[in-house]
Amino acid sequence: MKILVTGRLPEEILALLHREHEIEANEKDRPMKREKILERIVDKDGLLCMLTDTVDRTFIEKAQRLKMIANLGVGFNNIDVDAATSRGIPVSNTPDVLTEATADLAFTLILSLARRVVEGDKRTREGRFQFWAPLVFLGREVTGKTLGIIGLGKIGKAVVKRAGGFDMRVLYHNRRPLEQAEEETLGVEYADLRRLLKQADFVSLHVPLTDRTRHLIDRESLGWMKPEAFLINTSRGPVVDEKALLDTLKQGKIAGAGLDVYEEEPSLTPGLVDLENVILLPHVGSATLETRTRMAWLAVDNLLAGLRGEKPPNCLNWEDIIEKGSHSCAPH
Ligand code: GLV
Repeated sequence: MKILVTGRLPEEILALLHREHEIEANEKDRPMKREKILERIVDKDGLLCMLTDTVDRTFIEKAQRLKMIANLGVGFNNIDVDAATSRGIPVSNTPDVLTEATADLAFTLILSLARRVVEGDKRTREGRFQFWAPLVFLGREVTGKTLGIIGLGKIGKAVVKRAGGFDMRVLYHNRRPLEQAEEETLGVEYADLRRLLKQADFVSLHVPLTDRTRHLIDRESLGWMKPEAFLINTSRGPVVDEKALLDTLKQGKIAGAGLDVYEEEPSLTPGLVDLENVILLPHVGSATLETRTRMAWLAVDNLLAGLRGEKPPNCLNWEDIIEKGSHSCAPH
């Protein structure tokens, strides 16, 4: 079968795909342009796409032979899963393998913001470390503080595990609270959004991007945060109203922010880069060699299973496809 791989992947992974299938792959790290993808997808049976590719209804309509979409990434807001389902095309993502790496990055941002790590490095390099003094360059303590987790899924829970090492009190907000027994095991307490934002010293976002979570953190909810609190976003940019965040930071209404994701990636809201109390990372939550390699293998496992007509291990819409009786691999 014919497969389009829109991002550069490790050689050995492509070689495996190549053994059974005809591959057309992006050989560069720069994302393939949408027009190019749309041109190339026309005769393809399988797609291994990046979270930067928008696989919308128009895309899916063009891809008349498509039988499987494997997304490299756990978030799949870039894919119109309903449109794929109506054509009987299974869609998969890469959960679990990136949980620890992403939680590590969220915690890196918590510690780095609190202790002004990036600012301190800059200051030292610029020759501005001229003396030690008791009241100079103070950060804030992390140990014993309150952490607010918005979206207590797998990654959120992995952040809670890390917070345990810092004796933090953890509040969480979810659409539905966990069972009490699980709350007790994790040592977390449910709070509505307003109470969480009012009490937390560090607010870390771990929700998927959906219509319900778009701008969940807006001007009003930012206004509930304490002036000494920090916001950390390693989920998806549009969960935060970035312009409102910029204004809130500029007015000193919160202490700082650690962002790995942005509303219009890779663009940033103008003004953000001028603030010293923000840390800005280039969407690297899962970017360790180990995790990215596992993600690529998992995406390939999913792709190959889908092309064989089997249920991919991380299929997002299998039951819906079966219910509709519309499977793309089924004889019509
Ligand atoms: C990264 O952002 C992912 O969704 O895997």
